[in-house]
Amino acid sequence: MNRNNERAVNGPRLWASLMEMAEIGATPAGGSNRQALTEEDRAGRVLFSRWARDAGCEVHADAIGNLFATRPGADPEALPILIGSHLDTQPTGGRFDGVYGVLAGLEIVRTLNDLSLTTRSPIIVASWTNEEGARFAPAMMGSGVWAGEFPLEETYQTTDRSGQTVRDALMAIDALGTAPAAPFPLKGALEIHIEQGPILEAAGNTIGIVTGVQGIRWYDLILTGAPCHAGPTPMEHRRDPVQRLPSLLPDLYALAVDNAPWGRVTVGQLVSEPGSRNTVPERIRMSLDVRHPDQAVLDSMDKRLQEIVSGSDGDGIDVVLEEVWHSPAIRFDGRVLDAIRMAVEATGLPVMEMVSGAGHDSVYVSRVAPAAMIFIPCRDGLSHNESEYAAPEDISAGGDVLLNAVLALDAG
Ligand code: HGY
Ligand code: MN
Ligand code: MN
Repeated sequence: MNRNNERAVNGPRLWASLMEMAEIGATPAGGSNRQALTEEDRAGRVLFSRWARDAGCEVHADAIGNLFATRPGADPEALPILIGSHLDTQPTGGRFDGVYGVLAGLEIVRTLNDLSLTTRSPIIVASWTNEEGARFAPAMMGSGVWAGEFPLEETYQTTDRSGQTVRDALMAIDALGTAPAAPFPLKGALEIHIEQGPILEAAGNTIGIVTGVQGIRWYDLILTGAPCHAGPTPMEHRRDPVQRLPSLLPDLYALAVDNAPWGRVTVGQLVSEPGSRNTVPERIRMSLDVRHPDQAVLDSMDKRLQEIVSGSDGDGIDVVLEEVWHSPAIRFDGRVLDAIRMAVEATGLPVMEMVSGAGHDSVYVSRVAPAAMIFIPCRDGLSHNESEYAAPEDISAGGDVLLNAVLALDAG
């Protein structure tokens, strides 16, 4: 039992599972590199599946590799309650992003077993394929296919930078399941996650009740000039796309400043082609990640971005902007949020309501089922960083809230 005699998870067991999973794809700097559909991802899937079976769950995968571990419920007519997140990480990711949500779900199953408690609803712990979108774009791929956002066959043909397709990568790690990658009815869906930002920690709160997720747009911005010799070619004879950046970048970052405090602009990838020291580049390919919680503002940022790139500097550089992904801002389900509110009240933990700055699988799950999220703090708000850290007491407290929210949903 925790501080208010509410049911509680086994915090040390959850922490031990997190640390054991972190050994798979561990980086020298103490982070995780378990990119989607790699050997490390395969090993993580195998470990999670073994643990789930040991805890009495049936485990299967669907056609995009989403893993579902099901603990039977008492009422065969009752719709399942799903607890999901992701096991894949960024290349220099942390030990908690996503994996906390999957292993906290497993901990709920383990705790229900300890309590000899059978819920009316089956409990499904889901690990969604390729949430991060770091190797194969877009992000939230597995949950997006499951929810009907991304066509399966088209997604299968998506390639990483080496040219390997999603389908071949799924086959290579024996993750391509036989179940259809399609939604099934749910009573409710919960996801617990580290906040990945500084708000909870700065406010001294342990729990974030996540009422929605901000809108996200991903673009490819391609600047094309003309390759030529770095030596003999006079500066005035060049069409060097890098020379456009000094006028372009301030306008791009002004998009965030002009829509502060929630506007976000990130250039995560910046590639020069052909990438030779002594050849003036032909092309600069850059990724743009643009975000805002208010969809109307995000749309105005998109409109402004189109204006920025349509202007010509008379420098002979061809500029193309391609939208790669758009995840509109969403609000989560009131009934599931109320279950989380009840669970938090019961624990007496310091709490606040907030919108998520990061995208999560629950965005797509919420398209087809009542869903909501719970946040716990992470140190210095850091994530997508090898020093990502969440305190054991917060890991445990979040688990207590998740357990009591599941029980509240089940009783409802
Ligand atoms: O991009 C995101 O917000 C998430 O981490 N995939
Ligand atoms: Mn995540
Ligand atoms: Mn992430």
